[in-house]
Amino acid sequence: YKKLKDFPKDFLWGASTSAYQVEGAWNEDGKGLSTQDMLTPPENTTDFKVASDHYHRMKEDVQLFAEMGLKAYRFSIAWSRILPEGRGKINQKGIDFYNRLIDELLKYNIQPIVTMFHFDLPWSLAKEGGWINRSIIEDFKDYAKILFENFGDRVKYWLTINEQNMMVLAGNLLGTKTSKNLQETYQQNHHMLLAQAEVMRLCHEMLLDAQIGPAPNISPVYPATNKPEDMLAAENWAALRNWLYLDACVKRIYNPTAWAFLEEKKILPNMKKGDLHILKAGKPDFIAFNYYNSTTVSASLPDDSVKYDKYDKKKMISEPGVYEVVENSNLPKTPFNWEIDPVGFRIILRQLYDRYHLPLLITENGIGLYDELDEDGKINDDIRIDFYQQHIMEMQKAMTDGVEVLGYNPWSAIDLVSTHEGFRKRYGFIYVNRKEFDLLDMNRIPKKSFYWYQKLIRENKVPG
Ligand code: BG6
Repeated sequence: YKKLKDFPKDFLWGASTSAYQVEGAWNEDGKGLSTQDMLTPPENTTDFKVASDHYHRMKEDVQLFAEMGLKAYRFSIAWSRILPEGRGKINQKGIDFYNRLIDELLKYNIQPIVTMFHFDLPWSLAKEGGWINRSIIEDFKDYAKILFENFGDRVKYWLTINEQNMMVLAGNLLGTKTSKNLQETYQQNHHMLLAQAEVMRLCHEMLLDAQIGPAPNISPVYPATNKPEDMLAAENWAALRNWLYLDACVKRIYNPTAWAFLEEKKILPNMKKGDLHILKAGKPDFIAFNYYNSTTVSASLPDDSVKYDKYDKKKMISEPGVYEVVENSNLPKTPFNWEIDPVGFRIILRQLYDRYHLPLLITENGIGLYDELDEDGKINDDIRIDFYQQHIMEMQKAMTDGVEVLGYNPWSAIDLVSTHEGFRKRYGFIYVNRKEFDLLDMNRIPKKSFYWYQKLIRENKVPG
């Protein structure tokens, strides 16, 4: 292979978490309820009440992040910790917690990358209908203003909404969707797009040296065969799954293919006069995105094909006549049945950069495994090391191809509760000694991948 470009000196090697999956302390120090606190977890999986107890062990955790050598840490702020009712009275103890976290990170020169909203809508707002109410645009703006005022002197990288596209497509699983039908779903999506644009504008007004961007889950898509119809299906899929969200944010228009689909299905959002101006006024500085796998689609389901149901959601895997998602027999899978595609990572990095010409920031990438302590009390997660090795190599190839990447923040910095598969599905560089329901001592134990990543960051190149 041609010579690979070195990673820039200031490359943001980081790691990622989200508030409700890691913090615990769900009802402490004045925190209000969120949709995640109200969710009934799937059978035999834990809830989010204690999670990794990061709220109480924050200093110890950040010290470990520093030992790993992280240059960045991407975490989310729990809206209901700052505003227990979603709006109105500020909970000072919530502000204090994130101030302590940010200061602790900066003490070790770790850049905070802050997600403003990661699946945990304040319950009082959700009860009123959540994103279906247009008034939530103002609520989100007011919340953002509080964040910028309190943390904007130290936080230089902001992310608006985590995986808005997954919330729209698999909302029920994430505890975020309150809509009764698809028109309402796309109405909520429209409000999120407007709220995001408003908040990006506000960020640039209030914080001159800060940068802000969206954080969708983006996947490249392959046609199942070289039939032109399959290629068309792949493009339909990409329009509805990727471009609808990113075109609205970056090009600041509705993607025409997606719009035509919504129109045909009679599920268009109601637009108010001026909405397009709102959209136009918000500009991202970079595109952050989460990458886990690619997707393969067919125009219609061949008899012998296997449906690929990552989220076990019919709606996501097929849209009759538009696309059908199928398995890709060329790709291996994780123990949790997610396809593994490092080359797809390079492909999507190139596609995104070609399409939008904005720097890219990876905010999630990783593999869920059943990590277990061996007799020596160690976790030899070679499979994870291999996964990262391959993905980082492909990212480096994409950068050599000319793509500008600001940083890489894999999921996750430390073990935490998966969105719907409990604690047994572990992602961290750091093991947390608890079981699904038995909290044990919650000790932190660096995994083998911790030391591998530490070396990579120290040398600023992929080991071996
Ligand atoms: C992303 C989310 O979709 O994937 C995270 O932003 C999530 O919150 C991660 O944990 C992995 O998914 P899961 O379902 O395995 O937890």
